[in-house]
Amino acid sequence: MRDPSLRRSLTLFRAFLHEQQDPERCYGLLARDAADQVERYAPLKGAVVADIGGGSGHFTEEFRRRGARSWLFEPDLRELSARGRPPYGAVLADGYLLPLADGAADVCFSSNVLEHVADPRTFLSEMVRVTRPGGLIYLAFTNWLSPWGGHETAPWHYLGAHRARERYRRRTGREAKHTLGVNLFAVHIGPVLRHVRAREDVHILTARSRYAPCFAQTIPRLPGVREVATWNLLLILRRLP
Ligand SMILES: C[S@@+](CC[C@H](N)C(=O)[O-])C[C@H]1O[C@@H](n2cnc3c(N)ncnc32)[C@H](O)[C@@H]1O
Repeated sequence: MRDPSLRRSLTLFRAFLHEQQDPERCYGLLARDAADQVERYAPLKGAVVADIGGGSGHFTEEFRRRGARSWLFEPDLRELSARGRPPYGAVLADGYLLPLADGAADVCFSSNVLEHVADPRTFLSEMVRVTRPGGLIYLAFTNWLSPWGGHETAPWHYLGAHRARERYRRRTGREAKHTLGVNLFAVHIGPVLRHVRAREDVHILTARSRYAPCFAQTIPRLPGVREVATWNLLLILRRLP
């Protein structure tokens, strides 16, 4: 699918609306889309890919389908086992301290993990460390002020995280999976972009809205607006020597 395009965004959005009923279709589609985005900058065939916080392995499976040697690093055994047996070669490991040598990966990939870590800078530094000079870092995350920032409690997080959680409990009779400050953190686009631009070990290849059908590169350049309109920020970085 052409990216960005209205057709692609609608297809992803429809799959996302049915995520609970048909997670295989939703994450399969997202994984193919992300792999296409990576391949715009580097071939996956033969590449060593580290998929950090890769959950139950949809992305790693897609990378392998395209000929990559992809390894999944995930700290939560429940996430790893969400589809039954953990994927072959999965490693129970935290993104802050990866069991990989410096420069071991051609591509270091993380989709929707940054907003789940308390210290995004250390998380990114570890991704950079394990990527070889010239390699790629793919980092995508949902920022807090995105319409989906509150995850399952969205969009009520705009009224405050606590209120959104209470509402979720009342409506569903269940506790929300995410608690702000415990396993979900208020990450904002401005500070992340400023941090990445100031780093001397990476070059920004793209900083764009991951799903927007148009103006994908422009939206993240607009202070204020970007916090709401980007939805999900995608950074593709080249590791400098
Ligand atoms: C929303 S899921 C994303 C899963 C998958 N990457 C995707 O895009 O569908 C967030 C994942 O980040 C993982 N995670 C949380 N803290 C982490 C950390 N410190 N290091 C690596 N992964 C972490 C969680 O266990 C969970 O699997």
